[in-house]
Amino acid sequence: MQELSVRHLLGIKDITAEDIQLIFETADNFKDVLNRPIKKVPSLRDITIANVFFENSTRTRLSFELAEKRLSADVINFSSSGSSVKKGETLLDTVNNILAMKVDMIVMRHASPGAPHFLSRHINANIVNAGDGTHEHPTQALLDSFSIREKLGDVAGKKVVIIGDILHSRVALSNIFALQKLGADVMVCGPVTLLPKYIRELGVKVEFDVRKALAWCDVANVLRIQLERQQMKYFPSLREYTLYYGIDKKMLDSLDKEIVLMHPGPINRGVELSSDAADSHHSIILNQVENGVAVRMAVLYLLASKQ
Ligand code: CP
Repeated sequence: MQELSVRHLLGIKDITAEDIQLIFETADNFKDVLNRPIKKVPSLRDITIANVFFENSTRTRLSFELAEKRLSADVINFSSSGSSVKKGETLLDTVNNILAMKVDMIVMRHASPGAPHFLSRHINANIVNAGDGTHEHPTQALLDSFSIREKLGDVAGKKVVIIGDILHSRVALSNIFALQKLGADVMVCGPVTLLPKYIRELGVKVEFDVRKALAWCDVANVLRIQLERQQMKYFPSLREYTLYYGIDKKMLDSLDKEIVLMHPGPINRGVELSSDAADSHHSIILNQVENGVAVRMAVLYLLASKQ
């Protein structure tokens, strides 16, 4: 059996192109399972997984939980709100207490960049990073590239632009690493204040005009403005942001080719995307969500064999 080169999935930076291809091939098989009347396999029957979320989530938490249940794992869910974290318990104490209940794997979302990396130095269980602050969101990038491969046949050679709040986005960084490892040509587009100063060092193209970016690309992955992470004003108003960087269906229809529209969610409808664009035939946003379950099943299944 082929194996991943890592025993934790902390970031796309740490895995190889071969790891990503193995995850995709495994996810293809699980996607077939998910389309059957009986959507469950016994692959992780003796494994217990804790979903440990210190930040809000809808898609990631639910799709990890569903992936675990489809693999027949035992699942427990922890949210920091309503927990003893509110009484001052540390991250490491919290996780060690969960592990004392004979838990094998931890799926963790945390607001601090590097939190899962810190944990990996102190615990033995496999860890999957479900988003660490503004740093990485590896399973989102995997499901995004898997969805491009599904829609366009391959990721290699495709022109992908990531549009919006790159500065605060863990989705952007993980996508840049994944797309480059798979041979795509990557561009970022947004106001200069929402692009990190070092962005060109990552080997991506930079464009400030969203119309030029859309004319260049095969795929546009549009990101949410993360107001909750912004300590200062990066643009005058949301109205002005929408005026210069908002994408609507008219813009997509006016291109001289078909492009694929993606968004990791949650969407700020009427800010970075109009509803008519988000719900149009250009969009594969709900396919991304659907693919998240198969891709997360693949990640959990492959990591479980590395215990
Ligand atoms: N894409 C994503 O991470 O969404 P959630 O915050 O709802 O999990």
